[in-house]
Amino acid sequence: MSPKDLAQVLRHLPPITDPNVLVGLSTADDAAVYKLSDDLAIAATVDYFTPVVDDPYDFGAIAVANALSDCYAMGVQPSIALNIIGFPTRTLPLQILDRILEGGSNKAAEAGVSIVGGHTIDDPEPKYGMAVVGFTHPGRFISNAGARKGDVLVLTKPLGIGIITTGIKMGISPEPAARRAIDLMKTLNRDASLAMVEVGVDACTDVTGFGLLGHLWEMCTASKLGATISLSGIPVLSDAWRLAEDGAVPGGAYSNREYVIADVTFDPGIGEIAQLVLSDPQTSGGLLIAVPPDKADRLVDALKQAGTPIAARIGGLTTDLPGRIRVTE
Ligand code: CO
Ligand code: CO
Ligand code: CO
Repeated sequence: MSPKDLAQVLRHLPPITDPNVLVGLSTADDAAVYKLSDDLAIAATVDYFTPVVDDPYDFGAIAVANALSDCYAMGVQPSIALNIIGFPTRTLPLQILDRILEGGSNKAAEAGVSIVGGHTIDDPEPKYGMAVVGFTHPGRFISNAGARKGDVLVLTKPLGIGIITTGIKMGISPEPAARRAIDLMKTLNRDASLAMVEVGVDACTDVTGFGLLGHLWEMCTASKLGATISLSGIPVLSDAWRLAEDGAVPGGAYSNREYVIADVTFDPGIGEIAQLVLSDPQTSGGLLIAVPPDKADRLVDALKQAGTPIAARIGGLTTDLPGRIRVTE
């Protein structure tokens, strides 16, 4: 579902009138934030999906890294989580569910998150994820709506994860590429989040199902700004280019590109494959951070020190019309 379709559906929810709701639905943010007192707020988010890889342990770990990421994107360290599980108990051995939960539990433990409950249903297709809660200061979390003109955009994981996982399903992703994509999906955005909070940034979101362009579009729209990004500055998993040319492009990349295309200007040299790479839906992708220009060097240094997969400047926020994105070569 595109952000525009999503907005159509969410329109039917009752309007939020509680003044303690600091972040609700209006900014397409990663987590909701609710003020409990003058110095305490709660951040809440939920995410779950069907298997993206064959190995149940890896799937569990990826699902948890992905679910926690929406807290990290708000600059909040998650504290507790509730498992959400769908599993076909009659057709698949329970050991598989066991391995999914083992992968998930170990990832939660790595993040310092306590799994305090959950709910399981019988489901023809396995599903796993979690509802996640973190605590923060009501004035200190990072929304995707706070970007300011001139901010530098920094990305913490390379693109191409959706293409590589599609290639895995087609049996054409080389083993090292598959391994690298799985490792990236399992990598917590915790250290990137801690680094950006320490440096102090204006806005953040994680790059997931809507692809880089879709999530950048959401940040731009929420912040009422435009953006320019440069293709050559955007790290992409090297095999993704060839795999995309060989047809390993997930359907989501086409639909993602379709809904942003009216707001995006591509330089003439940027062909279809590159447009699809920039629209590639990421599972457990990196953080996309908007940082004031005078802090950009410090942020990149802090991310490198924290050992994030990448710390790449990919462009910046402009005073263009809200949601207008220009992609240069
Ligand atoms: Co998110
Ligand atoms: Co989410
Ligand atoms: Co229950």
